[in-house]
Parts: sequence; structure tokens; C-alpha cells
Amino acid sequence: MKIIGIESTAHTFGAGMTHNDKVISNVVDMHIPKEGGIHPRKAAEHHAKIAGKIIKEALVKKPDYVAYACCPGLGPCLKIGAVIAKHLAIKFNIPIIPVNHAEAHIDIGIKTTGAKDPLIVYISGGNTQIIANRRGWKIFGETLDIAIGNAIDKLARHLKMAHPGGPKLENLARNGTFIKMPYTVKGMDLSYSGILTHAKNVLKTHSKKDVAYSFQEHIFSMLVEVSERAVAHTGKKEILLVGGVAQNLRLCEMFKIMCNERGIKLKVVPPEFAGDNGAMIAYSGYLKAKQGFTIPIKKVNYFQRMRVDQNLQEMFKV
Ligand code: ATP
Ligand code: FE2
Repeated sequence: MKIIGIESTAHTFGAGMTHNDKVISNVVDMHIPKEGGIHPRKAAEHHAKIAGKIIKEALVKKPDYVAYACCPGLGPCLKIGAVIAKHLAIKFNIPIIPVNHAEAHIDIGIKTTGAKDPLIVYISGGNTQIIANRRGWKIFGETLDIAIGNAIDKLARHLKMAHPGGPKLENLARNGTFIKMPYTVKGMDLSYSGILTHAKNVLKTHSKKDVAYSFQEHIFSMLVEVSERAVAHTGKKEILLVGGVAQNLRLCEMFKIMCNERGIKLKVVPPEFAGDNGAMIAYSGYLKAKQGFTIPIKKVNYFQRMRVDQNLQEMFKV
């Protein structure tokens, strides 16, 4: 079973192929705004412009199915993916599989790390969620306001770093020293907007590297605390980090300390599958196709909002 997967939910356009459960191609191109954050229409224009070239490169075999990320994401960007899915379905005369982008981040994480039944920490530009499988995905904790990647990108942008700010802020943070900042955990949930405002303010009186370091230490500690509580409640024996922020080495190090103390395993999605990519959509589509979930062209649709615990199949019912 060969599947071409299309990712276009936000800043990245990606196309990748799987042959059964193996990834055989994965090509991505990220839209980098000249200034400011991601503008949905500008990102969609980027996707439309680059799509032909990326898909051509990714199509290393003739596909039997096309999978596309139908949710959640930015309207104009999702629309491009849906249109391309229809186009490929007609061109190759193949069925279509809609995929939840968040679920694809999880599926590829489990696949590439060999995790069995992990507590999942999904950390990206748009999400901060602690998830576990309890006869379907259940969300145990999440951010009450902005996502962790978004908080990082906003502080980085304030420091005049180009998007995405995560890797640049991580570098800057290497030699900083600790300043106390607001730490907001409420039960199983956390909040990042207060500390972001605080971090921007203290830049007036402290060095950039100290602010970057302390900001990371706080936002990562909050995440580790909530994840540890989730592990204690659920009894899971492994933690899996997925999403773009999982590439942060300091974050991985902090999780590793907690996991070692509890005698559980830490698994981290490999960098090439951490950020948005088409191969994860193809692989998630493969799991859906095995269950017999495909849709006809006239049912192709997209949803800007969709949580990982919502039933996608329901959304495509006749
Ligand atoms: P979502 O999956 O919620 O729709 P997204 O698709 O925008 O969000 P990803 O592509 O999974 O997110 O991740 C992008 C985020 O990862 C950005 O916020 C980026 O700054 C962050 N990121 C990438 N590398 C690092 C790093 N080394 N340290 C911290 N953050 C990082
Ligand atoms: Fe993503």
C-alpha cells in the first residue's frame, strides 16, 4: 500500500510517501515571513507556489491513496491541501484519506521510536497537550492560553530573531544564568502568556541570554511537572515527546532527568519528523486506510478547529 501524504496546515508545505509502514520520501518547505508572525494568506500563497515542485520530488512511486491533513490549521492553508488531494485523487484515480494533523504527529512519534503505550507530550507552534490512549486519545492537560512553541516564537521575534525562533532562542539560552519568573500551573493545565509578558519586560534590565535561559527553564519545568503528574495518575511507563519543540535539547534533558528518577523511558520523535511534514500524514493515512477509512472526492473538506479527542470519521459521515 503506497500513500502520498500532503501537509499544509500552517507554515510548512510538505509531501511524503509511505510504502506500507515505511517512509520512502519526505520533502518539506517552510514559509518564512519577512517580518512578524505567520499570515494565513501569505502562507497559503507560498504553499500554492511551491506545491508542484515538492510533490514531484516526493512522488517516488505511483501512489494507491492520497492522504491530506484536513484539520486543525489555518483556513487558507488547509484549503490548498484539500484542493491538492482532490487533484491527485483524480490524476491517479485513487481514494482519499483525511488525516488529523495532531494525530499524525503522535502516530509518527510512536512509529519512529517504537513506543508502546506512552504518555504523549505534544508540543508545537499551536499545541501544548498531555495526551494518553484510553480507548481513544484523551487529553490530560493543556495550555490555557498560548502554545509553548508560540510563546517561544513570540519572545524570539521580540529579540529580532527570524521565524522559527525555537532553535535560535535555544542557542542564546546556552550560557544564561537564572532569574526567577512567573510559574503558572493550574492542576493539569499550564499558562504561558504571563511569563511571556514578564520575559519581554525584564529584557529592559537583564541580558538577552539570561532572559532566554530563564524563560526556557520555567516553561519547560512547568511542562515536566504536569507530565510527571500525568504519568503518576495513568501509570504509563514511557513518555513520548512529539511536535517541533521536541527538538529542544534542554527540554529533552529535563524530561530525561524526571524519567530516570521515576524509572520510566523517554522517547523523542527524530528531528526530521518533529516539525510538520508530509510523511507523517502519509503514515497516519496508512493506519486509517488499514481500518478502511477513505472518502470520495465530493466529501473532501477541512476543519480549522479539531481536537485530537474528537472523532474525525464522524465529521465525514454522509
Ligand atoms: P501544530 O502542530 O500545533 O499545528 P505547528 O505545526 O506550527 O503547530 P510544528 O511544526 O510541529 O508546529 O513545530 C513548530 C514549532 O517548533 C515552532 O514554534 C518552533 O519555534 C518550534 N521549535 C523548533 N525547533 C525548536 C527548538 N530547538 N527549541 C524550541 N522550539 C523549537
Ligand atoms: Fe504541527
